[in-house]
Amino acid sequence: RKPLTLPRLRAMAAAGEKLVMLTCYDATFARVLDAAGVDLLLVGDSLGNVLQGRETTLPVTLDEMAYHTRCVATARTSAFLIADMPFGSYHDSLEQGIASAVALMRAGAQMVKVEGGAWVVPLVRALVERGIPVCGHLGLTPQSVHALGGWRVQGRDEDGAARLRADALALAEAGVAMIVIELVPTALSRQLAADVPVPLIGIGAGPDTAGQVLVLHDLLGLNPHPARFVRDFMADAAAAGGGIAEAVRRYGQAVRDGSFPDPEVHGY
Ligand code: KIV
Ligand code: NA
Repeated sequence: RKPLTLPRLRAMAAAGEKLVMLTCYDATFARVLDAAGVDLLLVGDSLGNVLQGRETTLPVTLDEMAYHTRCVATARTSAFLIADMPFGSYHDSLEQGIASAVALMRAGAQMVKVEGGAWVVPLVRALVERGIPVCGHLGLTPQSVHALGGWRVQGRDEDGAARLRADALALAEAGVAMIVIELVPTALSRQLAADVPVPLIGIGAGPDTAGQVLVLHDLLGLNPHPARFVRDFMADAAAAGGGIAEAVRRYGQAVRDGSFPDPEVHGY
């Protein structure tokens, strides 16, 4: 497989080819996921949950994100590498946000992801001007979990839906390359996908987005309390005599053929 580039990813989305994203935190999984055809590897700050055993992503530091980004970057060959800007690494000032993004890009990221709407627009502009591709993240933004009052579906009422839409349009206007939307009703996500001029990558957002993302450990059936939107692809693979690589391959296939997520089973 040729290395995926931003223009190639844009072309795929424009052609209606689903973008397959998974979180990844180390070199071994980077090799396996890349070989299994995953398009986008996300060094998510969910590593605070799945690697560090924390309740939230808030304690994750920039140094930790850079470390895991370096680990993944050494092993990826084709997949495009995105790294999360962790809580507190872009909250002080534009200067701080730029320096944090630079650290992750130096660690091997090809794009950085920031959570939030209007308030991150100046940072998105500054990064894009400096040649740093940016992914947005709207809906349930885990770094704001305490303000949101828990892991709740976002955009359920009219106000919330309007705010989400305004934020998504503002991020697109500011130049984000894509936007992750997490835990929003399928109908709203479908509307956003139609109205927002950049690819949306859904998680708990129904099947109508340009792409899908899951936390690797959830897909592998390692989460004892998985959210409704998770499917255990490891169980499917194991039933067919396959292993981890087969589970990942099945996830990619299910995203591409539209059978995952099933709005009846995994949607809101
Ligand atoms: O950190 C993470 O894993 C994420 C994805 C769930 C989108 O941000
Ligand atoms: Na994240």
